Amino acid sequence: GDPSGDYKTDKRHRSTEEGQKALSAHRQLYERNFPLYKQPVEVGCFSLDSRRNFCNDQRQLRYYVQPTKSPDFNLRDGYTSRFVKRDDSVKEKLDHVLKWILANRDKIQTRVQTPSSSALGVDFVTWRGHLTKVLTTPYETHEGWMLAASKFRGTIYISEVETEAARVDQETRSERQAEMMYWGYKFEQYTCADDVDGAPNPGGVVNTNEAFCTVVQTRLADHKLLFSGEVDCRVKDRDAPPAPGCYVELKTSAEICTPKQRSNFHRYKLLKWWAQSFLPGVPQIVAGFRDHDGIVVSVETFPTSKISQLIKNEFNCWKPTVCMNFCNDFLSFVKSVVKDDDPRLVYLFTWDPHRDVTYTVHRDSQYTFLPEWYIKDMSS
Ligand code: A3P
Ligand code: MG
Ligand code: MG
Repeated sequence: GDPSGDYKTDKRHRSTEEGQKALSAHRQLYERNFPLYKQPVEVGCFSLDSRRNFCNDQRQLRYYVQPTKSPDFNLRDGYTSRFVKRDDSVKEKLDHVLKWILANRDKIQTRVQTPSSSALGVDFVTWRGHLTKVLTTPYETHEGWMLAASKFRGTIYISEVETEAARVDQETRSERQAEMMYWGYKFEQYTCADDVDGAPNPGGVVNTNEAFCTVVQTRLADHKLLFSGEVDCRVKDRDAPPAPGCYVELKTSAEICTPKQRSNFHRYKLLKWWAQSFLPGVPQIVAGFRDHDGIVVSVETFPTSKISQLIKNEFNCWKPTVCMNFCNDFLSFVKSVVKDDDPRLVYLFTWDPHRDVTYTVHRDSQYTFLPEWYIKDMSS
């Protein structure tokens, strides 16, 4: 269908009572052929150090070390004594990605010097995590989202705004929930080495300020994308395919004991895992299954490309094509709305479960997210 077509007759596009455009997230509307999604190409990377400082290098890249057949990982170890937690009240918005762009402008510009109206040669700049949320929207029934969008020099930047519900969730988190958020990072420590010929050091400190991020370029239908995503580790093999083909996503999940648990794992967990890794082209996901006490009982590898076959036996299950078509149509919707090229103008797209995507417009507000240092440097 033509995304810029008639908003009144197209079932995906609607008008609100105020006469504004809206986009439906009904999954049935997105069951078309899989859209073109170009193989993502890594154009660079960056690291965030133990104090969350931006580093224009790969110092935080770690190497995957395959665990033994029956690993003895206790994910609770070190929670109270060897854990430095990132301050998530600091909203970083797109700042790290923007720093990478400023430091590597030549790399993007020489790569895509196509006749385009945008100075960067891309239509959208964002975090992978924001796109993951867009992809899973047609199947999400609990958590809504807010995405702020501003156009600057022909490129639309998309940055998340924390919802009221997410803030309440965070403030009312139980002690058990807080500890379980640590378990995923502890699993990373058990399975990653800092050096290619090193071994994991489970006795060390888990510091969630540290991160390694890939920056990839790709295209979804006619949307040229540049986004960054955190990468857990890479394989040691020096003959491995170039990034992102050598990257490995690490996950933990509750062990599966019943058919119901298996079905839930397929329906909910694998959707999120697939969306997160498919977007940047990360080919494998290593999952540690743990019991109630945080002991890893088994480790299993899921090739990202095999996940859609794995879930096909599940009745009424999610479909990758619905996720990608919705994302394509959402980005077309954003393009149709975000017309003014002005970094102080924010179009705030909001979605709540069982609702349409709608938007509001804000000038020089709390939502403005493109910093002065970025505007200034890019304009020089
Ligand atoms: P798990 O993936 O094992 O759940 P990521 O998997 O994206 O690399 O994230 C690493 C870990 O951060 C997660 O491990 C989890 O422990 C924690 N984490 C990330 N996002 C989270 C969220 N929205 N809620 C709770 N924990 C989260
Ligand atoms: Mg990670
Ligand atoms: Mg992970």
